[in-house]
Amino acid sequence: MLVTGNIDELKALIRAHRADGRKISLVPTMGYLHEGHLRLVDLAKERSDIVVMSIFVNPTQFGLKEDFQRYPRDIPRDLKLADGRGVHIIFSPEVETMYPGGTPLSFVDIHRLTDSLCGASRPGHFRGVLTVVAKLLHIVEPDIAVFGRKDIQQLVVIERMARELDFPVEIVGAPTVRERDGLAISSRNIYLSRAERAEAVHLYQALLKGRELIRGGERAARRITSAMEKVLAGPATRIDYLSAVNYLDLQPIEVLREKGIVALAAFVGSTRLIDNFIVEFTDGEPSFSI
Ligand code: PAJ
Repeated sequence: MLVTGNIDELKALIRAHRADGRKISLVPTMGYLHEGHLRLVDLAKERSDIVVMSIFVNPTQFGLKEDFQRYPRDIPRDLKLADGRGVHIIFSPEVETMYPGGTPLSFVDIHRLTDSLCGASRPGHFRGVLTVVAKLLHIVEPDIAVFGRKDIQQLVVIERMARELDFPVEIVGAPTVRERDGLAISSRNIYLSRAERAEAVHLYQALLKGRELIRGGERAARRITSAMEKVLAGPATRIDYLSAVNYLDLQPIEVLREKGIVALAAFVGSTRLIDNFIVEFTDGEPSFSI
């Protein structure tokens, strides 16, 4: 596995592979790798010859009061895990390499899709995400780029940006990887105390409740989300949002008929966790990605 923080060096490495006709994939991450990230690598390996993983805690996507400084970092451990999983190239630049001279003046932004869900509670977040992902796509020029469905709004806005701004890349979505009890794996789970960790499983149980109701024929978003709210309740839990939106533009829906997302965010103690399921209908029959 080759490791570099230098853009020109990275480009030269990739150019050589492309000249040999190899298909390149990109797996962007902020590091502190876990099984969720590593499954993206597995998928990238199935679909390409050379897997490039970026590890970069991107300051422009963190709000002023968010956890940029204390976001967990462990590069030596990340390199071992990535190497063990067959990543070919790691790109782990310094902040100064990605943003010479500090905060940039140019950003990629998107409208409407960020009015809801995490976009509503984290202003500026997706602007930072899209900007860094656009930069990474320009630097690496991958054939495919893989993102997790755990961060569903992120996946949808990146798909939209790539399509509308003609990035010559295929955006691939990967299923959410969960702990044994169903909690979605996240780098932020380490912030949870024992009691909070036990309570955090309610997020997944709430999703199961929503799925059960839809399977039983319920289509009214309000009834689905209020039943889920009851499952989510707990002494350390404060709901940020719990909402049914359509997949296309992430606008709230009253009745689930077409491809939609039931998404939630909740603080468990002071840790903000997110989760969701996607539901699609074929001849009225629902199928789920959870
Ligand atoms: P990060 O939170 O490190 O996540 C990197 C990728 O791993 C994202 O595509 C995310 O959806 C995916 N991922 C995380 N946990 C997962 C899980 N349990 N199951 C499946 N996939 C999971 O998301 C980011 O970094 C950043 O915003 C980034 C896209 C790198 C831009 O800075």
